[in-house]
Amino acid sequence: MDKFVIKGGNKLFGEVDISGAKNAAVAILPAALLNHGICTIENIPDVQDINYILDVLGRLGAKVERLSRNSVRIDASGDISTVADFEVLNHLRASYYIVGALLGRFGNAEVTMPGGCNFGERPVDLHMKGFAAMGAEVSISSIFKAKKELPLNGANIYLDTVSVGATINIMIAAVLAEGTTIIENVAKEPHIVDVANFLNAMGADVKGAGTDVIRINGVKELNKNITYTLIPDQIEAGTFMIAAAAAGGNVLIKNIIPKHMEAISAKLEEMNVTVEEHIDSIRIISDGKIGKANLKTLPYPGFTTDMQPIAVALLTVANGTSIVTEGVWENRFQYVDELRRLGAHITVNGRMAVIEGVRNLCGGTVNATDLRAGAAMVVAGLMASGKTTVKNIKYVDRGYEHFEEKLRAIGADIQRDSD
Ligand code: EPZ
Repeated sequence: MDKFVIKGGNKLFGEVDISGAKNAAVAILPAALLNHGICTIENIPDVQDINYILDVLGRLGAKVERLSRNSVRIDASGDISTVADFEVLNHLRASYYIVGALLGRFGNAEVTMPGGCNFGERPVDLHMKGFAAMGAEVSISSIFKAKKELPLNGANIYLDTVSVGATINIMIAAVLAEGTTIIENVAKEPHIVDVANFLNAMGADVKGAGTDVIRINGVKELNKNITYTLIPDQIEAGTFMIAAAAAGGNVLIKNIIPKHMEAISAKLEEMNVTVEEHIDSIRIISDGKIGKANLKTLPYPGFTTDMQPIAVALLTVANGTSIVTEGVWENRFQYVDELRRLGAHITVNGRMAVIEGVRNLCGGTVNATDLRAGAAMVVAGLMASGKTTVKNIKYVDRGYEHFEEKLRAIGADIQRDSD
């Protein structure tokens, strides 16, 4: 199993190019199954979750051709199986998007239940509720099944909880439904807008993505050859912003949409970090002296939960006590024991963590307990004195393209090694 070995203390200088958004890609690639035409998708991040999805699309019968490291061509015009019962899906949360796509196009989907990062209960009841409202018979056991003679019915669906996955999945399934589907209380993350733009590029009629209500007027068929470029990864960008703030230095984070970063930029400024916003880049200038700050994670445009562990790593060395409240997931502080091994002072009470800043962290051996927690350990390792070993980095590889290479290019001392 691979691990990172980091020698902390180097300041970071230079430029980093941000890759395409992983969480947009894991929805857009399955959504390509709706199209009779050929989809060329660019700016795909070269990460493990994408390899899993492309593998599954190929096994279902789509022609999947890697044109380069970051672009792929998908042709789903041939025979496509509606049963995706593959072990590889146990590693992937986003497998549920395959249900929405197969149900929408073929009226049947049988897909291995989602796996992925574990931070408490991860229900799919809202996805089921949406599909059922469109007339499908839905059940879950180890397989997520949904079935309905085509076409699906357009429906009015209110999501009790703001859910990224349910918003996207229902949107995908509704593209070919008969009539209009209105989804209320939807998530507004940048990748929701990206998925809607992709669906519209294929010929769908989706309006309102990025607001609280999405309206999908069903169309009979999608049949266009398209080329679509994914948006940049907001979480990868935020991770590098925090890495630069933590290590100190001066780093330009390029190929991003600064508007997507506003909650993170504002929090970093509150922590005395200089954030310079440009048209498609952000410069972080930091002397490594971090001010304390309180934050609560919320759906977009709030401070995203996926940055929470990384922000907590930074606050471990702040000049006072910070309080971080997790507003999305019930159990997303499992990684704090690992930060404690490096000398962090953190107490957790339910969904709230109290972080007493310490003068410095000391290197040690820690585990990546999930994807973003793994990134948090790397950020902690950059700040810690001496050597930090981050084990179990298969999680990090799921979502960060060439993480250590990008960090090395701006001056970090980080190596990949195997146990
Ligand atoms: C997406 O997960 C992301 N994953 C997660 O990022 C991210 O943490 C999360 O959105 C929130 O922003 C992908 O896009 C692949 P949700 P998702 O449905 O869609 C409750 C990462 O690190 N809920 O928005 O699964 C749920 O319990 C990953 O890249 C229901 O109650 O999250 C949670 O409290 C980790 N019923 C809240 O909604 C449902 O049917 C938000 O979950 C679905 C969700």
